[in-house]
Amino acid sequence: MVKLAINVDHVATLRQARGIDEPDPVLAAGICELAGAAGIVVHLREDRRHIQDRDVILLRQTVKTKLNLEMGAAEEIINIALNLKPDMVTLVPEKRAELTTEGGLDVIGQQQHLARVIAQMKEAGIPVSLFINPDAAQIKAAKKVGATFVEIHTGRYSDATSDEEQEREFAMIVAAVNAAHGAGLRINAGHGLNYRNTARIAALDKIEELSIGHAVMARAIYVGLDQAVREMLDLCC
Ligand code: PXP
Repeated sequence: MVKLAINVDHVATLRQARGIDEPDPVLAAGICELAGAAGIVVHLREDRRHIQDRDVILLRQTVKTKLNLEMGAAEEIINIALNLKPDMVTLVPEKRAELTTEGGLDVIGQQQHLARVIAQMKEAGIPVSLFINPDAAQIKAAKKVGATFVEIHTGRYSDATSDEEQEREFAMIVAAVNAAHGAGLRINAGHGLNYRNTARIAALDKIEELSIGHAVMARAIYVGLDQAVREMLDLCC
């Protein structure tokens, strides 16, 4: 059964919109864990638009399942991660103007840098996942630079506007999962997954964990966070 990790960035987005101290992503993370989430994900962005340094410090102390720190491979954040020692890091491309992480990492184009960052993390005992598009060449490069995991980007599958397009994107994810498995990589997936499109991805047995944020937080506004997590969990088994 695939595990469900919940991204609580949006709780911090709401807090930052008011510039006060609630809602608190640390408390939200605890509720997600109590509802059955197997992990908590946060993205500490260089511009600190949502998650703050205080959040990751407290989450490191309080998360009982697994803390996955999403981050760009920038020097300042690398140093924070090395000190924090999350259970794993997921390296993502980060652009200041984007609303959310837009595409997968270009692993091929920055092999030396990524290999160096992954080696530093490994030395600190932190496994690294690379967030990549479902692309065989990027998977090969991820293996070459020493990644433990890849997180397959499900955004194009999730955003597909026709059944044909969704089928095409699903087939690419299946091929990417098989290629990554064949290369000896561990596999996570995420981005854009919601209550309508997650079950098919969750049924791919080589995927260990799904990382889901927006859909769960959006539903939580109506039904509460505990129920929103439980309903997503139901789709994962
Ligand atoms: N995985 C990665 C690497 C992401 O950047 C995000 C968005 O923060 C997610 C998963 C979760 O995406 P969503 O919020 O669309 O569920």
